[in-house]
Amino acid sequence: MHRVDGKRMRPIWLDDDGRTVKVIDQRWLPHRMEILALTTVEQVIDAIQQMVVRGAPLIGVTGAYGVLVALRTSTDENAFLDACDRVKAARPTAVNLAWAVDRVVARAMAAPPGDARIETVIHEAGQITEEEVDRCRRIGEHGARIITDISRTKNGRTVHLLTHCNAGWLACVEWGTATAPVYVAHEMGIDLHVWVDETRPLNQGARLTAWELGRAGIAHTVITDNAGGHLMQRGMVDLVVVGTDRTTYTGDVANKIGTYLKALAARDNQVPFYVALPSSTFDWELRDGLGQIPIEERHADEVHFVQGKRDGAIARVRVSPADSPAANPAFDVTPARLVTAFITERGVCAASEEAIMGLFPEKKNKRRAQGLV
Ligand code: MRU
Repeated sequence: MHRVDGKRMRPIWLDDDGRTVKVIDQRWLPHRMEILALTTVEQVIDAIQQMVVRGAPLIGVTGAYGVLVALRTSTDENAFLDACDRVKAARPTAVNLAWAVDRVVARAMAAPPGDARIETVIHEAGQITEEEVDRCRRIGEHGARIITDISRTKNGRTVHLLTHCNAGWLACVEWGTATAPVYVAHEMGIDLHVWVDETRPLNQGARLTAWELGRAGIAHTVITDNAGGHLMQRGMVDLVVVGTDRTTYTGDVANKIGTYLKALAARDNQVPFYVALPSSTFDWELRDGLGQIPIEERHADEVHFVQGKRDGAIARVRVSPADSPAANPAFDVTPARLVTAFITERGVCAASEEAIMGLFPEKKNKRRAQGLV
């Protein structure tokens, strides 16, 4: 478990009272560590939408605990189901949210109302949390082998990995997805260094990934989002590893805006481009990433303003002219053809329907049973 100032920490946990969901408020990191308590459905939805919590697996876990909050605060079953639907719709792109809410709601409805239902929901949300931790640790083990192989071909010289956004433990409970191979390789003593894309507009890379890696003692350098192609042309990147918010069963990858450009630059420079994800981030229903994955459009002010620390306080400053409009698509889709391979909890596979279904045959059987293949 990751330590912050010597204290073991996760980005989310259920308080001992069994009803209050505690989260790290990621909006203020790295400058301030603040914990928020969520006790109402509105607070849960707001935390997801305002990106107090963010990152696909963590949004899923928050949704799972959101079902508990909904159950504790709803007056009847209709109100409960309606509240769960609202939690599920809080952000559109990360498929983990709907996946986790649906799973916990299904368990809840199969249990008798009252205390038994509450206990079922607590258990299921906890189960999802621990399963995600386990999946991320396995992603780390499989991904670390890729890093080790590169280290070997470089005779132990530093392996340079580039990542985009924050796909670390803050986004996933523990280990992260894209960062899990980094943490495991670091534990194994591999000499590595991470290029951290700042990831405008909200700077998840510069604020969160850099903070995580720094706390773990991992060598890293923050770069502008536009620097990656240049570094790849100069042979300064050995591999790219990113996370994803939703990946189709055919291998198209939605991830933080700017990921596609990194994939293009990687292809042009023969740099391997890996996507690390738990099975909860595959969308087993969608075939066509570009046409079918909903892309969140966020508020223009996230583009107009940047946040930082000035004179000890967190401040926001305007970058663009007061009368210029801005557009803020939060994710893009990298087509499967640009992905070297996926790193999943079950191992590494090519970005194709055949290879993905080969790793997860039960999903193929389910689609077959539904008459979809
Ligand atoms: O808008 P965010 O910060 O929720 O976006 C997060 C990302 O795009 C991550 O790269 C993705 O969720 C993978 S996290 C394990």
